[in-house]
Amino acid sequence: MNPTNYQQFEYVLQLSSAYWKSQVLFTAIELDIFTILDNKSLTAEELAHSIDANVQATEKILNALVSLDLLVKQGKYYQNAQISHHYLIKGKPLYQGDAIHHFHNIAENWTMLLQTVKTGEAVVLKDLPEDVDPHDLKDFITAMHNIASVKAQDICTALHLENPRNMLDLAGGPGTYSIEFVKKYPELHAVVFDLEHVTKLTHGFIQTAGLQERIKAQIGNCLEDDFGNNCYDLILVSNLLHIYNPENNSKILKKCRNALQDEGTIIIHEFVLDETKTQPQFAALFSLNMLIGTQEGASYSGEEYRSWLETSGFKNITKIDLQSDSSLITARK
Ligand SMILES: C[S@@+](CC[C@H](N)C(=O)[O-])C[C@H]1O[C@@H](n2cnc3c(N)ncnc32)[C@H](O)[C@@H]1O
Repeated sequence: MNPTNYQQFEYVLQLSSAYWKSQVLFTAIELDIFTILDNKSLTAEELAHSIDANVQATEKILNALVSLDLLVKQGKYYQNAQISHHYLIKGKPLYQGDAIHHFHNIAENWTMLLQTVKTGEAVVLKDLPEDVDPHDLKDFITAMHNIASVKAQDICTALHLENPRNMLDLAGGPGTYSIEFVKKYPELHAVVFDLEHVTKLTHGFIQTAGLQERIKAQIGNCLEDDFGNNCYDLILVSNLLHIYNPENNSKILKKCRNALQDEGTIIIHEFVLDETKTQPQFAALFSLNMLIGTQEGASYSGEEYRSWLETSGFKNITKIDLQSDSSLITARK
């Protein structure tokens, strides 16, 4: 018998129980524990009282949160770790609670993975906003806003654009990238193009940012509608193409080319796979998330994006890996 490799053994058990960690975080977010602990230390008893929960059970989840490095324990008192202070307190600019809530919402879809792998078809199909319960849609778009609020900083730092003036934010959802781009580029105006149910929500995000004069929301379906001719010097296509198949993606990119002015720039923002389609890990797992949740979506490789851009007539194609787990692919008309 081979000697036991305890590291491998533990890795297998850790993978098997990884959802325990997610469930602890989901529950802490639903109970809003981090917001309650904002700038204070509480005992398990005090916290249990404020969330109307059992004291012994509360102590156990607080201890688990300490083990996950999300809380710090001193004597009987619990307080937020720095990471929770940044990302888990409601109302803070980089709050990720709605994104975590979204991952919680889709956890049930993942229990269908076995069936989905056998049939090759999504069992739960709610990928278009028309199919989604309005409450879930608001959760989803707010989740996209949480994530984009962090990534927009990363993207703005990575890009060096020459004073763009007219931007199309295709399938822009909450419009968070448009909001951050117009803040960075003083002469920029943006159009957030998305399906009708979503643009109703987009208006709210634009209004909260006080940017109604510079950002408009336009209703449209990128599979059916054109985006105009020679209208924009910048088009952002963020997290759209993973919803569709290669044929539809080529069609969308050709319409983007028509909508761009000469020398205009297209920026694709996605979880981009390497040539083996096995890395980065998040992109490989995200491809399963698309398999479970959409009719034809997937994570694609850098080479696939490049070939669709080339056949759509784009030049100067470049890939930029961001500090977070996604990449930009930029090209020119
Ligand atoms: C994953 S979200 C990305 C939102 C935003 N671009 C971002 O990166 O945060 C995908 C967006 O694509 C939009 N979308 C999906 N299919 C679309 C279509 N056929 N036409 C227009 N928008 C579409 C959805 O409504 C949603 O807002």
